[in-house]
Amino acid sequence: MAILPVGIIMNGVTGRMGTNQHLVRSIVAIRQAGGVPLPNGDFLMPDPILVGRNEQKVRSLAETYDIARWSTDLDACLANPSDIIYFDAQTTQHRAESIRAAIAAGKHIYCEKPSAATLDDAIDLARRAKAAGVRNGVVQDKLFLPGMLKLKRLVESGFFGRILSVRGEFGYWVFEGDWQPAQRPSWNYRKEEGGGIIVDMLCHWRYVLDNLFAPVRAVMCLGATHIPERVDEHGRRYAVTADDAAYATFELEGGIIAQMNSSWCVRVYRDDLFVLQVDGTHGSAVAGLRDCRIQPRVATPRPLWNPDLPNPIDFRAGWQMMPDNETFDNAFRVQWELFLRHVAGEGPFRWNLLEGAKGVQLAELGLRSWQERRWIDIPPLNG
Ligand SMILES: NC(=O)c1ccc[n+]([C@@H]2O[C@H](COP(=O)([O-])OP(=O)(O)OC[C@H]3O[C@@H](n4cnc5c(N)ncnc54)[C@H](O)[C@@H]3O)[C@@H](O)[C@H]2O)c1
Repeated sequence: MAILPVGIIMNGVTGRMGTNQHLVRSIVAIRQAGGVPLPNGDFLMPDPILVGRNEQKVRSLAETYDIARWSTDLDACLANPSDIIYFDAQTTQHRAESIRAAIAAGKHIYCEKPSAATLDDAIDLARRAKAAGVRNGVVQDKLFLPGMLKLKRLVESGFFGRILSVRGEFGYWVFEGDWQPAQRPSWNYRKEEGGGIIVDMLCHWRYVLDNLFAPVRAVMCLGATHIPERVDEHGRRYAVTADDAAYATFELEGGIIAQMNSSWCVRVYRDDLFVLQVDGTHGSAVAGLRDCRIQPRVATPRPLWNPDLPNPIDFRAGWQMMPDNETFDNAFRVQWELFLRHVAGEGPFRWNLLEGAKGVQLAELGLRSWQERRWIDIPPLNG
């Protein structure tokens, strides 16, 4: 049994996602667990170097999590041949340039979504990575959430019969920043800095719909900027230039209709921050981030419309909770482990930069649909 160190350059790791999901819950957790096991009994041990612009922040992050290496010089990091993976969780607009440099330096690439701010850049990255022969992946974390894995189990078992429709409710109230601090970074609300909920969420909906149900074939999206002014991290008022809600409908191959509401201006009266209902001829399911409830057709109540009487049916009681049947790890960590194994030559990894580009494509077409007030077909993407 050998411990095989894997050098990983982690950029943008002082941010919200970089610190919480990628460093602490993925890389640090994998290190604490002794590494990623390989079929031959060896273990891959992530050996990260944290990169950031602010020396004080990046050093203190490294010290907090007992990471020996940190730097403020990305080029110098890319020049070190023993760091074989470049990971990027910077704000979206800065991703493409850094990834291009990393590909040119021969690094394998793993990055947050959206993989780039524009479809042209996203495809360019996918093509460059392919031409350079480097392995590559984009975060598609929702696929590894327990609730979505349970839905996948249902689809694969044929539980739904013919799937008719999918409806998703995503969102929560993001405070405006005046009387309570906002719980998302202010760049999310500035288009010129890569913000906007359409760019943010349609990337997710593309891989969720494509992978769980059927390929997305067309989009119709209405965006909105409900809150026109917010207060940033420094207490300064700013004009919101990006959409903060998106009301989108998608046509999937085979005629499935999907509707996804995404909003940072909605108060939660549901079981989770994201809830997805799937209705099929033989059964329905409602999944959250972790749980999934089902109702087969044989257990479907017979409602009758009569507002003159109190409703006699306890609708929620007619659903059955699916069992876990396995232990679920953090979704980001699961995908990291698959990527690390893939880099070591163990196992495929289909969530690559071309798949990531499909998410950027759906976001761009969603924005265009809103602008032009019409349905838009989604052309195939060739890498
Ligand atoms: N997978 C998911 O569910 C998910 C959720 C939220 C965000 N994200 C994505 O993760 C990325 C980061 O989002 P976040 O919420 O962590 O943002 P954040 O603002 O908290 O962090 C951004 C990081 O980028 C760095 N950065 C900012 N401006 C920079 C610049 N000019 N040059 C270089 N580096 C710069 C910051 O120092 C920080 O490390 C975004 O692309 C976002 O779309 C993904």
